[in-house]
Amino acid sequence: MVSAAAQAGVVAACVVLFVPMGLAGWHLSRNKVLFFSGALFISLAVGVHLSPYLPSLPHLLAASFFLPHPGGTPSSAYSSASSSCVPFLHRVSWSDSAATGRTWAWPPSLASTCGFARLSRDEASLLLNGSWVMVAGDSQARLLVLALLRLLLDPAAAAAAEPDLFRRHSDYRATVPARGISVDFVWAPFESNLTRLFREDLRLAPRVPDVLVLGSGLWHMLHVTDAASYGDALASVTAAANSLRSPLPVPPPHMFWLGLPRLVNHMLNTEAKRAHMNVTMLRSYDREVDQRGLLRGNGGPCMLLDVGKLTQGCGQQCAADGMHYNGEVFDAVLHIMLNALVIESQQRI
Ligand SMILES: *[C@@H]1O[C@H](CO)[C@@H](O)[C@H](O)[C@H]1NC(C)=O
Ligand SMILES: *[C@@H]1O[C@H](CO)[C@@H](O)[C@H](O)[C@H]1NC(C)=O
Ligand SMILES: *[C@@H]1O[C@H](CO)[C@@H](O)[C@H](O)[C@H]1NC(C)=O
Repeated sequence: MVSAAAQAGVVAACVVLFVPMGLAGWHLSRNKVLFFSGALFISLAVGVHLSPYLPSLPHLLAASFFLPHPGGTPSSAYSSASSSCVPFLHRVSWSDSAATGRTWAWPPSLASTCGFARLSRDEASLLLNGSWVMVAGDSQARLLVLALLRLLLDPAAAAAAEPDLFRRHSDYRATVPARGISVDFVWAPFESNLTRLFREDLRLAPRVPDVLVLGSGLWHMLHVTDAASYGDALASVTAAANSLRSPLPVPPPHMFWLGLPRLVNHMLNTEAKRAHMNVTMLRSYDREVDQRGLLRGNGGPCMLLDVGKLTQGCGQQCAADGMHYNGEVFDAVLHIMLNALVIESQQRI
């Protein structure tokens, strides 16, 4: 028989136990906010680059990141919380300002719960310290490189780099010597060019890039105009990317896929483009990107940088020729990528 005193004791014990736990739970959400701003700082200091000559432990850590966690059992609450923010990276909002035109931002609530932030020049160069960034693809890839150079270099140096970067149909390399950062643009307008990059150039290279951004499709749509054939070409890119990943004695590159932009058909500047690059075609090309095992969601190697969603948000006033969007769009793409790298580098610690 339980006495009244014992019952009171149980109640008291519950109060002692659960009230602080409840409070702690409440505080946790506030602390988490603080924790994430701290996490951004910590992982910036660690950076995305891991020396290629480190022993195998970092490789195992990195490899396990690319495998799905069975039952979602990440190594700590903190990495689970931050990786659970990845799906929100593209939730940016667009607004018009008289001074700067159309601009993007993460909603403040998302910025505080997930710690998303625009990186300053110093933060970005700390994150990429010692890293090799390769961006391979068509004119969209080039615009992403421009956004990266504008962030990493001072305005005069970025402007001076532009003529070389925009030389038609050629590769380009820039470095930030003070931080040991190399940035490569590889002109690869067709998917076969990307496959070749993996199978030949990167396979033979003594080192692989730390960050690899790929993207093509517009040339295929214009010149081949056949979604199924685009899909087959993407499947080859996927296989080549996976074969580069598997036997590496070093952490595999962080890989991203630059999605197709929204096309504004009536603004396209040639008859051929207006005939071949319509909404129907774009939809079927987008579907191939989703279905050919390329993207993380399907167990593939690349995180999608959803240019379609961002160009939709910026709107047609951001693309004078209906296809190439302005710097603000690629600034958003860049910061989404850098914040994804911050999250990934926390998981590689
Ligand atoms: C940047 O990387 C170099 C080697 O690539 C290293 O010596 C240096 O300590 C790093 N700096 C910071 C701040 O991490
Ligand atoms: C890209 O691929 C196309 C088609 O296979 C080829 O004609 C072109 O030379 C390649 N370009 C580069 C830069 O490798
Ligand atoms: C879109 O373009 C394709 C390829 O040129 C063409 O076959 C199709 O009829 C076009 N569809 C529309 C709705 O214009």
